[in-house]
Amino acid sequence: MAVKRSRSLEDTKRAVFLDRSRPLLCPSILASDLADLACSVKRLGSNFDMVHCDVMDGHYVPNLTFGPPIIAALSKHVDQPLDVHLMVTNPDDLLAEYVKAGATSLVVHVEVLDHAQRTLARIRELGCFAGISLNPATPLESIRWLLPDLDMVLLMSVNPGFSGQSFVPQVMDKIRELRHMINESDYSIRLQVDGGINRDNAADIVRAGADMIVAGSAIFGQDSPADAAAELGRIIRGAKARL
Ligand code: DX5
Ligand code: ZN
Repeated sequence: MAVKRSRSLEDTKRAVFLDRSRPLLCPSILASDLADLACSVKRLGSNFDMVHCDVMDGHYVPNLTFGPPIIAALSKHVDQPLDVHLMVTNPDDLLAEYVKAGATSLVVHVEVLDHAQRTLARIRELGCFAGISLNPATPLESIRWLLPDLDMVLLMSVNPGFSGQSFVPQVMDKIRELRHMINESDYSIRLQVDGGINRDNAADIVRAGADMIVAGSAIFGQDSPADAAAELGRIIRGAKARL
């Protein structure tokens, strides 16, 4: 059963994800001032589409960040939808908590799931968009038979755990292949790319087929995060328009 939340705001947030006419910019708060989280996000103004929240458990990835309480606190201050990326070994245990905390989309790593189809179906049942994430070395074949259960595929373009790493170049071909796989299917699935994205490579990533761009240090690591987000937004919308 879906977790109950305020209907109209929830519908507005879902509409952002569903509007396939434009690519979405998702700033990753991992690179923000976490001691001043809500203000860091608010200072971006309206120069972004979804807030990317990196949940790390210190087991699946070496780093440890935050869980449902911090996400719930943030969601009270921010109107934009929250995209929650779970880098944890046991995502099944807390799915409902993340939905209650305010996630609009929930992304789990295929590498940790014993019963991926069941997990994705559960996320949708809870009222969230369901995403699956693949590390750079994980083959696309691992999700071929999951396409009917997916609203989003997240291709990691760094090995997960930290912001500020460099884009792994061979992921560019992987984006093209996944875009082809999605277009050949009957399903409407967003393609998100996460890690090492900046003003120099963002347009190429969109032209390769991405329609959700995550950026941490390229936004929050800049002198003016709001200006950096505005510029990245213009770059990815411009690249999409030329496709
Ligand atoms: C890495 C995280 C990313 C990261 C992106 O494990 O999933 O979302 O914060 O940061 P940048 O854009 O700095 O590579
Ligand atoms: Zn992430």
